[in-house]
Formats: sequence, structure tokens, C-alpha cells
Amino acid sequence: MSHSNFSPQALALSQQLSQKIQATIQQQGLISFQTYMNMVLYDHQFGYYSNGHYKLGELGDFMTAPELSSLFSRCIAIQMAQVCSKLSKPDILELGAGSGKMAKDILLQLQQAQQLPQQYLILEPSRFLQDCQKKLLQQALPDYYDHIIWLNRLPKNFRGMMIANEVLDALPVQLFCYQNQRLYEVMVAYDESEQQFAYDYQAADAKLSQFVQQWQSQQPFLAEGYQSEAHTLIPAWLNSLANCLEQGGILLIDYGYLAHEYYHPQRYMGSLICHSQHQANDKPFFLPGLQDISSFVNFSLVIEVGKQAGLDCVGYDSQANFLLNCGITELLANYDPNDVVNYLILSHQVKKLILPSEMGEKFKVVGFAKGIELDWLGFQD
Ligand SMILES: C[S@@+](CC[C@H](N)C(=O)[O-])C[C@H]1O[C@@H](n2cnc3c(N)ncnc32)[C@H](O)[C@@H]1O
Repeated sequence: MSHSNFSPQALALSQQLSQKIQATIQQQGLISFQTYMNMVLYDHQFGYYSNGHYKLGELGDFMTAPELSSLFSRCIAIQMAQVCSKLSKPDILELGAGSGKMAKDILLQLQQAQQLPQQYLILEPSRFLQDCQKKLLQQALPDYYDHIIWLNRLPKNFRGMMIANEVLDALPVQLFCYQNQRLYEVMVAYDESEQQFAYDYQAADAKLSQFVQQWQSQQPFLAEGYQSEAHTLIPAWLNSLANCLEQGGILLIDYGYLAHEYYHPQRYMGSLICHSQHQANDKPFFLPGLQDISSFVNFSLVIEVGKQAGLDCVGYDSQANFLLNCGITELLANYDPNDVVNYLILSHQVKKLILPSEMGEKFKVVGFAKGIELDWLGFQD
């Protein structure tokens, strides 16, 4: 990784964000890693998702499934249509819509099936990304565009389907580590002599200790030097979705594991990961605001919180099984194999989405329902 891969303008943005974080550290002493990650990703002026540097797909830093293939979003649309068919006047709500490509492909699939929702709502914190989504959707769906609404907060009494692809991994995490038989929270300091951010440690407070203890009591994993993530923002985030859902479903898709694999003694360095120009690294202090920082998701936490919030967990499976159940191979079979180039491109995309060595097993899908009895297509055996 080198600074030479970035333009002088991008480096200047990163410099400004670094100064803003340094000023916060000066005011507060240390800041938690969660605060650091929040500023790096979501600072309204300079954060990764707001500063115009976040580019999706081939030209960006990482590839998400909707950017890779329309077939992914078309499968999601098929699942949504099944749930929505049980509801009167359903809407769709997408959280964290990125470039807007998934919204576009979901809507095109539903249009083709004559199952367009009343409204397609988008809750997207980044102004920059909202503008990208508006441009794309206005062009792709001019006749439906007035039904696409950008929200500043969650709606009340929502009926329909909610979807969030790769949003959970982008919620800032707390980091903890275990040293000398004590639990510490990993903090961020500024090292004046090295002129860069550095890790520091302070005793974990009661809330973080309790959070870690909850998993430790199920399967002991803490050993000297063990470091990992605590997804302490997930409960409030998912609770707020559950509270605003009157009737319908929620689909959450992301990379992650159940707790016994997540907090496994062998995974002693955690799963925090940074992406820059399609290369993964473990250096979250490298050029703040110019690279993505994310963490794998503890799906046991997601499932537990959902259930406690009154949702029915209707399924948890690998992305591969979910897409196969929703008919990804049938969608592919509708294309003409004599159109060799197009067919090969689509087959390659399907392989990437479902092969265990690619995204098929690493990514998981969890579904929640409220107020409907239904055997969801994507989770059928
Ligand atoms: C990794 S990108 C995924 C984008 C898109 N869903 C995709 O799969 O290509 C994460 C997205 O989540 C959004 N996001 C972050 N925090 C959010 C929150 N609390 N609520 C809704 N969206 C959020 C980001 O702005 C961004 O659009």
C-alpha cells in the first residue's frame, strides 16, 4: 500500500479528516475505536462514504454482490414478491443502498413480474450516495421514479419488506482485547512522535465486559492476547427496524459467522478488515477516509436480538443456498446460451455468488418476519 496510488486531492481530504480526529482526541484524551471508525466512515464532510472517494465495483475498493450481478438482486426481488404477496399495499425499504444498483435491479425484476411496490423507500445516511442513487434510478425507472422516496429516519408502521445488504458489516464496532487476565477496550490515540494514530488500551467498562461475557459463557475463547470485535451498535439498529415494522419481513445479508465460529479461540485476531483498491489489509490507520473499514458479523447476535425484539426468525442460511432456492440457476437458464459472451459473463457471476470458495459460504442471509405465516422460498430445504 502506498500513498502514490492516491491523487493529491484525495490525500488532502484524508489529511483534513485526520486533523479532525486528532482534534477530537485532544479534547477527549483517548477515543474508542468505535468512535474512530464512525468518523473515518461517516464524517459528513470527509468520511469514506461521504467524501466522494467511495466508488463501487471494479473501479472501487471492493465488490458487493449487487455490483457484481443483477441476478443477485433479482433473486432478492423474487423473495420479496413472495412475502409482499401476503400483504395489502406493501412497500419496500432498503437500508444503505450504496450506488442504487440493487434498488434498480429489484425494481426492474418486480416491474417485469408486474409486482412493483407502492413505494420504494431508501434510508441512506450519505448525501453523496443519495445523489448517486437518484441519478441512477431516475435514468433506469423514469415512470416509477416518483414512487422512490429517500427518508431521513425510519418510517412508522411499515408494512412490507426491508432489505440491507452489507450494512451490518459497516456499523462501527468496539474492539476488545484480553491481557494479563483482564479485559480492555481498544482505544485510539495520536502518537505525536510518529505522526500517526496508534492503539491504546483502557479497562473495559461494565457494558462492554457484559457484552463479551455473554459469548464467553457460551464457549470460552478468551486467552492472553485475544482481540476481537463487539458489535454493540447492532442491537439498537435492529431493534429500531423491528419497532417500525408493523407487518412483513426483513432480509439481512452479510459476511459473518455464528458466535461459536466468530469467537473461536483460533480467531484470536478478530475479523476487522480494511479494503483499498481491491486489496484487503489490517491497517485501519492507513489514510483515514480513503479506505473502507468493516468487520464480519456475529449472526448469533443478530438472530438473538431479532427474536427478543418480537420478530420470527424464518431462516438463516448461506448466500449460495438462498440464491439457489430463489431460482438463480433458472434465471440464468432464461438467457440464450448461443449469445456466448453474455452467457459466459452471467455464468461467471453466478459462480462467484454461489461457489463456497467465493461468496457462497462466506456470506449469510437471515430472514425475519412479523405478522405473517409463510415458508420463505429462500430458506426452503
Ligand atoms: C458496504 S456499503 C453497501 C452498499 C450496498 N448495500 C451494496 O451492497 O452495494 C454500506 C452502506 O450502508 C450505509 N449505511 C451505513 N450505516 C447505515 C445505517 N445506520 N443505516 C442505513 N445505512 C447505513 C452506507 O452509507 C452504505 O450505503
